[in-house]
Amino acid sequence: MKIIRTKDYEDMSRKAAGVIAAQVVLKPDSILGLATGSTPIGAYKQLIAWGRAGDLDFSEIRTFNLDEYRGLTRDNDQSYFYFMRHNFMDGAGIPVERTDIPDGSEPDAERECARYDAAIRAAGGIDLQLLGMGHNGHIGFNEPADEFPKGTHCVDLTASTIEANKRFFASEADVPRQAYTMGIQTIMSARKVLVAVSGEDKADIVYKAFFGPVTPLVPASILQMHPDVIVVADEAALSRCKL
Ligand code: GLP
Repeated sequence: MKIIRTKDYEDMSRKAAGVIAAQVVLKPDSILGLATGSTPIGAYKQLIAWGRAGDLDFSEIRTFNLDEYRGLTRDNDQSYFYFMRHNFMDGAGIPVERTDIPDGSEPDAERECARYDAAIRAAGGIDLQLLGMGHNGHIGFNEPADEFPKGTHCVDLTASTIEANKRFFASEADVPRQAYTMGIQTIMSARKVLVAVSGEDKADIVYKAFFGPVTPLVPASILQMHPDVIVVADEAALSRCKL
């Protein structure tokens, strides 16, 4: 695991974008695994700017997103589909056909999760998976549990995740209670993983995830076992770690 310490959120965003840009330059037809949340927004902005300046070409990439709320249609402005179009895909000029994300409007969870895993496999697997991290150590929507979930599956969101994500909705009651998410095995199968973390409020979980025991109670801790992980974190997020 390589940890890159950055000054602040802006610096973290530029450096995380730099890792993604390097991947795309070295392999223009990369399969990228992408993430939502507020953390990667700055990196997406930077990538769009490099694309517009002609320094990066996204025309051959394909993307798979980590997760989606169950029950939201793609045109719902709280769906992760909508988030990705708005924060990255439209600006980077990536057509819908080159992107995939679990379909939250598909009521048959088993069918949709099986379709998603098969699509990732058929694409040849993910070259670089970008991750943010929840306050309880969740990655994607893999919440703390007794065991590490494997493939894409349907989850019940924990009270703390509903609480953390309610800021994007009109009220807590509007936050969906379930989501479809890549499993830990799906994430661990990516050839390279990039974790972006920022802020003092993540300092405890960063310490537990990367310096504590590997346990499904802290889902991100499994990343300690991955052979190629880069963590890009700002000083505030690393404030509990002695580096
Ligand atoms: C959501 C997403 C995660 C994301 C997490 C942290 O729960 N499913 O993929 O990492 O939020 O979000 P933020 O970056 O806003 O702290």
